[in-house]
Amino acid sequence: MAAQSIALWLLTTTMALQAGTSWAQLSTGFYSSSCPGLYSAVKPVVQSAIDSEKRVGASIVRLFFHDCFVQGCDASLLLDDTATFQGEKMATPNNGSVRGFEVIDAAKSAVENVCPGVVSCADILAIAARDSVVILGGPSWDVKVGRRDSTTASFSGANNNIPPPTSGLANLTSLFAAQGLSQKDMVALSGAHTIGQARCTNFRDHIYNDTNVDGAFARTRQSGCPSTSGTGDNNLAPLDLQTPTVFENDYYKNLVSNMGLLHSDQELFNGGATDALVQSYVSSQSAFFADFVTGMIKMGDITPLTGSAGEIRKNCRRIN
Ligand code: HEM
Ligand SMILES: *[C@@H]1O[C@H](CO)[C@@H](O)[C@H](O)[C@H]1NC(C)=O
Ligand SMILES: *[C@@H]1O[C@H](CO)[C@@H](O)[C@H](O)[C@H]1NC(C)=O
Ligand SMILES: *[C@@H]1O[C@H](CO)[C@@H](O)[C@H](O)[C@H]1NC(C)=O
Repeated sequence: MAAQSIALWLLTTTMALQAGTSWAQLSTGFYSSSCPGLYSAVKPVVQSAIDSEKRVGASIVRLFFHDCFVQGCDASLLLDDTATFQGEKMATPNNGSVRGFEVIDAAKSAVENVCPGVVSCADILAIAARDSVVILGGPSWDVKVGRRDSTTASFSGANNNIPPPTSGLANLTSLFAAQGLSQKDMVALSGAHTIGQARCTNFRDHIYNDTNVDGAFARTRQSGCPSTSGTGDNNLAPLDLQTPTVFENDYYKNLVSNMGLLHSDQELFNGGATDALVQSYVSSQSAFFADFVTGMIKMGDITPLTGSAGEIRKNCRRIN
């Protein structure tokens, strides 16, 4: 019986290793002997970037989300387009919108200085996202690492997997479910919209046409976002009207006052199944922080490349 169990285990292990995926796990100690200086190399780079411009912390957190939702957290988003390579940066959710790549480049350089060729860009992005949340006042957690970098990207994946701000609750839920994330993960991770900015083109419809918007709030936002499409499309407004550079639970307080900036934000508190969870995060910042951390760790676990799959990129913007 015992021998049979061992034989079965060996068989399963061999099959998983041959498949090259889904067996090897990420762990918090992956670089503890190969690059013990990793975390102290990344953090000051992120700190100094945020000292120069607070918004970039938000931008980095969003990069991690947009990376993970497209073929897993594999730094596919970081690859630049070339004449012969179509990356993800020009896909609709990213084009003219994603930012912060120079910070990841600087963090990569700092890491290469202490342990060249060891740490993936995908892991550096995961660590920089955590550091950004902490620096802006949010919760901390141990980041699971051991990811490798892709040699491919998916333009269509970026267009299809990342939810647009026009989404309703059902579509938001199903796009997160497609990544193995629950509705609770979705609501908690959306709390990242307590930091950062959005462009008029992404909230115009909501502030002019939706009825579940506070009137005074809508007028304020309309003053910076002309109703005519094509005019002022890139004008910015804070996702959290009070404190867009502080990571706390104000996002949910806005939602219960009908002051969500995006249509998709307000969908989380619009008489549906997620209202109670939003209310619970209004009442308890620590409940939000705990669920946000759980969500970030689950999101970071989406189909990583491990073992000998992929590569450790030398430059995050191109394959070796
Ligand atoms: C639930 C579905 C989500 C939708 C529909 C959505 C949509 C958007 C949109 C439209 C913007 C503004 C982009 C622009 O106008 O340039 C934005 C910004 C942002 N998103 Fe999301 N998002 C979602 C979930 C998330 C998640 C899960 C995270 C991270 C955990 C996140 C983090 C951010 C951050 C931090 C910003 C501000 C970025 C900056 O200022 O550069 N979002 N999001
Ligand atoms: C990206 O945005 C630029 C500037 O708005 C636009 O010219 C270009 O066509 C867009 N690219 C794609 C692939 O949509
Ligand atoms: C929601 O999903 C359905 C089915 O995939 C799609 O037809 C519809 O356009 C989506 N709506 C929004 C607002 O994303
Ligand atoms: C509001 O909705 C109408 C009807 O769908 C549309 O024609 C108009 O462009 C929308 N206005 C804005 C500012 O989105």
